[in-house]
Amino acid sequence: MTNAVAGYDLTGRVAVLTGAGSGIGKATALTLAAVGATIVGGDIDEAAVQATAEEITAAGGTARAVSTDVTQRAQVDALVDGAQAEFGRVDIMGNIAGIPHNKMVMDVSDDEFERILSINLKSCFYGCQAAMRVMAPRGSGNIINISSGAIDTPAPTLACYGMTKAAVAMLTKTLACEAGPLGIRVNALAPGVIHTNFSRHNFVDEDGNVIPEKVEGYKKRFGAMAPLRRVGEAQDVANGILYLVSDNASFVTGQILRPNGGVAMPW
Ligand SMILES: NC(=O)c1ccc[n+]([C@@H]2O[C@H](COP(=O)([O-])OP(=O)(O)OC[C@H]3O[C@@H](n4cnc5c(N)ncnc54)[C@H](O)[C@@H]3O)[C@@H](O)[C@H]2O)c1
Repeated sequence: MTNAVAGYDLTGRVAVLTGAGSGIGKATALTLAAVGATIVGGDIDEAAVQATAEEITAAGGTARAVSTDVTQRAQVDALVDGAQAEFGRVDIMGNIAGIPHNKMVMDVSDDEFERILSINLKSCFYGCQAAMRVMAPRGSGNIINISSGAIDTPAPTLACYGMTKAAVAMLTKTLACEAGPLGIRVNALAPGVIHTNFSRHNFVDEDGNVIPEKVEGYKKRFGAMAPLRRVGEAQDVANGILYLVSDNASFVTGQILRPNGGVAMPW
């Protein structure tokens, strides 16, 4: 057993992260790179993921940016297989890309339902499958899926989003059972309200410009719901991901970590 500081060292490991262009995915890419991991980031926003990769490279790390639509199985496969081909291994797979959805059940169209299932759930399933294919032969690896606090606090308009995230949690637990004997750990995070572009609709004007007073109002309103009296930052989630993929969590699998300020406290 290594000491805790050494346990966080990811030198020589390769992390594939979807959604690496913004928010939680970007913070995770920068955090894992800072402790030595090589990052292969995929995002549908090519310029954004390129900017993440450049930030890592400028700081002395190694990173690649790959334009990836996670709703397309072939593109998720190519993201993972490309990392394996270039760097010879994939140690960490972070299925992070996702979008919000708010609509009452009776107002949801078929197209909309398909879209949210594709981006938030099928993408994660594709990422797990692609990762398992390259990790199983090596007998090691870490898979991280992003669920949501929405699985703990049902609320009007959150049915579609919450269903996808509950399914992600169940996928995580089931795959953890299958992958554990192969030396692969699978965990999820269920973040509470995190201040990223995901929540932009709360603090922008009609033209999409961020309004500082609206940001403060958003932080105050949602922060008041948490015992810790604040909303989360992307770094709060990235720190949890770092723990889960590190050797310090080598006895942890099938778990749902909740960086949520204490909003929900399931057993
Ligand atoms: N922010 C929150 O309050 C919160 C809370 C709980 C869970 N989450 C989850 O965290 C994850 C990350 O969200 P975030 O807060 O960092 O949001 P974000 O909007 O800052 O980042 C999401 C990233 O995913 C990318 N993306 C969207 N659709 C994609 C697609 N089809 N293919 C590839 N990339 C795509 C976006 O371009 C963006 O870079 C999501 O799964 C979200 O559901 C967020």
